[in-house]
Amino acid sequence: MRPPLQPALADLLAYLGEMGYGDLYVDAPRAAARPQAPAPPQEPVAAVAAATAVAPLSGEAVARASELATLAGAAAGCTRCRLSEGRTHVVFGTGNPAAELMFVGEGPGAEEDRQGLPFVGAAGELLNRIIQAIEKTRDEVYIANVVKCRPPGNRDPQPDEVTACRGYLDRQIALVRPRVLVALGRVAAQTLLGNDSPIGRMRGQWFRVQGIPTMVTYHPAALLRNPALKRPTWEDMQQVRDFLRSC
Ligand code: URA
Ligand code: URA
Repeated sequence: MRPPLQPALADLLAYLGEMGYGDLYVDAPRAAARPQAPAPPQEPVAAVAAATAVAPLSGEAVARASELATLAGAAAGCTRCRLSEGRTHVVFGTGNPAAELMFVGEGPGAEEDRQGLPFVGAAGELLNRIIQAIEKTRDEVYIANVVKCRPPGNRDPQPDEVTACRGYLDRQIALVRPRVLVALGRVAAQTLLGNDSPIGRMRGQWFRVQGIPTMVTYHPAALLRNPALKRPTWEDMQQVRDFLRSC
């Protein structure tokens, strides 16, 4: 008999449905456990949403995605810093919980705060084009920010706000465990690398964060203000594309 769905698993399935996952599969019980049943290699757990076809998740990836969903739930009620006071939505992160490529931005803007999703405004449109340019889709990657609540007037997040939110980002990186991280802009790069280097010195360089190869590039909003930054950004992203191809 199949055990009942745990509430956390039900949340996870809803979450994965939103993320574009369709039928989810877990490994069938070992043959020795049920010798009489010529079990199929995989057994559907649930059909979630109508669904773009995405590769089935391994049981281990489902466990990590489940923890991400739990973390998102905790963040939704977070009051660890003053940014919680002015927010409409916590913008936790979005995308494939088992992504091989993860982007880290700075913090939600007005449109992100309104929708509860990262990079859905003008900078997000440019980020989508950058993602397409390296032959990925937005559904394939994972996107998060340093701070999950909108700084008023889009000011830089203050150090105590970054510190208060840091645990969420560190845990997201540990759970998604991408092959490559991309830090978008100075705040993301300085936060992830723990330095105060200028963006112009960090961009185009590989670093390691939690052991994960990490490329720094300009923030898409900077590209909107200064189109001359598009070319170096494109060069940085080609490095990312080439690294992923070599994996
Ligand atoms: N800029 C960011 O850094 N993050 C977003 O989510 C949107 C704009
Ligand atoms: N920079 C560009 O110039 N084009 C892209 O598509 C992405 C980054």
